[in-house]
Amino acid sequence: VTATTIGRVYGSANPDFAEGDWVLGLNALEDYSVVRPGGFTSKIDISMVPRPTLFLSGMGAVGLTAYFGLLDGLKPQSGETLLVSGAAGAVGSIVGQIGKIKGCRVIGIAGGPEKCARLTRDYGFDAAIDYRGKSARHLAVEIGAAAPEGVDMIFENVGGDVLDAGLMTLAMRARILLCGLISEYNSADGKHGARNLWALIVKRATMQGFLIMDYVDQFATGGQQVAHWMGAGKIRVDEDIQTGLENAYPAFMRLFSGANTGKLILQIAT
Ligand SMILES: NC(=O)c1ccc[n+]([C@@H]2O[C@H](COP(=O)([O-])OP(=O)(O)OC[C@H]3O[C@@H](n4cnc5c(N)ncnc54)[C@H](OP(=O)(O)O)[C@@H]3O)[C@@H](O)[C@H]2O)c1
Repeated sequence: VTATTIGRVYGSANPDFAEGDWVLGLNALEDYSVVRPGGFTSKIDISMVPRPTLFLSGMGAVGLTAYFGLLDGLKPQSGETLLVSGAAGAVGSIVGQIGKIKGCRVIGIAGGPEKCARLTRDYGFDAAIDYRGKSARHLAVEIGAAAPEGVDMIFENVGGDVLDAGLMTLAMRARILLCGLISEYNSADGKHGARNLWALIVKRATMQGFLIMDYVDQFATGGQQVAHWMGAGKIRVDEDIQTGLENAYPAFMRLFSGANTGKLILQIAT
């Protein structure tokens, strides 16, 4: 399993990297990694931040997925309605908070009453909807009640019934960003797919895919902006830190049971 990592240089044949330097990378879950600089792999200055893990969460790929996905992918305008799925998760919670900074009405979909309470209480969402145990049609009715004029944008992290429900509630010329389809990653009976694509035709809507790797050369700029919002108290970033390489499997599975609250991080070294 490859993941975004932060770690310290143990030994280096490159004069730009000294022993003890902190480095961001894209590596396996392992005690030691052999890497070359460039692309994702770069030095980080942890004196800039209250805790180094922020380079994995708010200022890392997660926060920057929210930042670039929302601002460049969906281009929100003040007064528009934004629907976020996987809303209490690492990416989704930051998407919703940036949506509020941009003046949008933000509706989040998450699993269970506690996560829904966190959406409005901790992240400032305008409305929260619990998807568990509900059909796409049932969910669409609840989204429609929270967005009587329809949703202008969907930031999609989940797919399946949740996406189908969102598609039933689109406003005219809505935009949909496919960031993730987590409900389909482990599906044993094939892909569910989006069954309500007809809505794109009726509403003249646009759906596009998004991959954070396209923005690597803009990470520093995006990271500074997210850090500024965090420092100003406008964005709250939660982390779910599990420990020990031997716990990698149960830790990873927290993503699929929904047990994680915030960016899931596995701490291997101390
Ligand atoms: N495109 C990109 O470049 C990019 C980059 C980073 C992440 N992503 C995607 O963004 C999404 C969120 O990632 P994250 O790291 O922020 O994870 P996360 O949201 O912190 O954790 C995953 C959450 O997904 C929800 N979930 C899991 N299985 C589900 C299912 N079957 N149906 C509905 N919800 C389910 C759970 O929340 P509930 O308890 O609410 O169900 C779980 O807590 C993922 O789809 C990921 O692949 C994409």
